[in-house]
Amino acid sequence: MWRRVFDQRVLDLPDALQYLGNMNRLRTQVGIIGSGPAGLLLSHLLAQRGIESIILERQSRAHVEARIRAGVLEQGTVDLLRQLGLGERMDREGIVHEGFSMAFSGRKERIDMHKLTGKSVMIYGQTELTKDLINARLAAGGAIHYECPVLAVEEYQSSQPRIIYEQEGQRKELVCDFVAGCDGYHGAARKSVAQNRMQLFEKVYPFGWLGILADVPPVDHELIYASHERGFALCSMRSHTRSRYYVQCSLDDRVENWTDDAFWDELRRRLPPECAEKLVTGPRLEMSIAPLRSFVVEPMRFGNLFLAGDAAHIVPPTGAKGLNLAVSDVYYLARALAAFYGEKRSDLLDRYSEVALRRVWKAVRFSWWYTMLMHRFDDDQISHRLQVAELEYVASSEAAQTVMAENYVGLAFDD
Ligand code: APR
Ligand code: PHB
Repeated sequence: MWRRVFDQRVLDLPDALQYLGNMNRLRTQVGIIGSGPAGLLLSHLLAQRGIESIILERQSRAHVEARIRAGVLEQGTVDLLRQLGLGERMDREGIVHEGFSMAFSGRKERIDMHKLTGKSVMIYGQTELTKDLINARLAAGGAIHYECPVLAVEEYQSSQPRIIYEQEGQRKELVCDFVAGCDGYHGAARKSVAQNRMQLFEKVYPFGWLGILADVPPVDHELIYASHERGFALCSMRSHTRSRYYVQCSLDDRVENWTDDAFWDELRRRLPPECAEKLVTGPRLEMSIAPLRSFVVEPMRFGNLFLAGDAAHIVPPTGAKGLNLAVSDVYYLARALAAFYGEKRSDLLDRYSEVALRRVWKAVRFSWWYTMLMHRFDDDQISHRLQVAELEYVASSEAAQTVMAENYVGLAFDD
């Protein structure tokens, strides 16, 4: 008779196989792939409603917490984080901005968001927000499994979808009621669905953003978006002593081509003289190039698999919408899952894709419009003249500035 000892229990073959199977199988209500802002905030929102979830993340915690990402939080995102008790460090270390400036033709024009909309944005690095969310999850006993790359989502049309992942070289599975694919553009969730079941919308812009992070005081107390014949530039910050700057570069450009001085010289050329003179430069902490694309997948739900954040949509960073869209997606998804578990309602789950996409497309439109307005596309003189004419119109029209401010501070999380 074949017998083996597991955990001091003598098991015969069938039981042993069952035992080994169970060792490699976890069970939860909502399986979340990805511990970026979308996955972490969803797990937190669900826990607040007594819904269990497990996060599977491919990278290590250190890697996730070290990623350099943007840092402009819309009013709606700030309000939600405060409501959830996640805003303490954000309110302590973040910087409230009531306006931003657009620079063109050697001049700088301020958009007073607060006067025009009564709202403002918060400058607080996505990296710091991610750390806060991880700390909050773990402090609340949340389950986050790092270095667990997900290979695929199976049976997402069934009532028991399974997430197949690897842990310490072992193939394992997480059985759940629902799967939330919060694993970004390159993740496994969307790739687990046949392409003929979705519609993909994509626009790749013919340039990138070369960004530098440096411990120098920001050139201005607010952000400056600059349109220039040599290309776009952005002056942003992480704090009053750490700045983040970007210049538009060609897609085939390489970080190795740029010394720090070359970057600062190019940035200075693209700023109005009053700003160029004030620019404080210093050694890079980090320099990288990011491509610009607009991408949306429809629908954002496939059976019991729901996509949220970058897994479903990508926006060019010009409008600072990426993180904020991830937040509104999981706000809608958590509300729908709470209605399912709490009131056995599935109408909100059925409407998740439609409601989330309505807000997504508005942000995709604004990000596309702002990118088209501020970047150098090619040498045909007419497009540059048209850009300057539109910038002058925006600078002279309170109505146009209000449209811009409404979109920049963030549209309401409508139902
Ligand atoms: N298995 C497990 N985890 C995965 C897998 C996989 N196969 N593929 C990707 N991941 C993880 C990534 O390592 C990352 O930590 O999923 C996470 C996705 O997080 P983000 O890319 O930050 O995406 P999201 O949470 O949707 O946040 C969107 O991030 O990229 C910015 O501009 C974007 O600000 C926006 C925000
Ligand atoms: C940033 O601070 O990195 C940043 C700010 C605003 C943007 C994009 C990036 O639109």
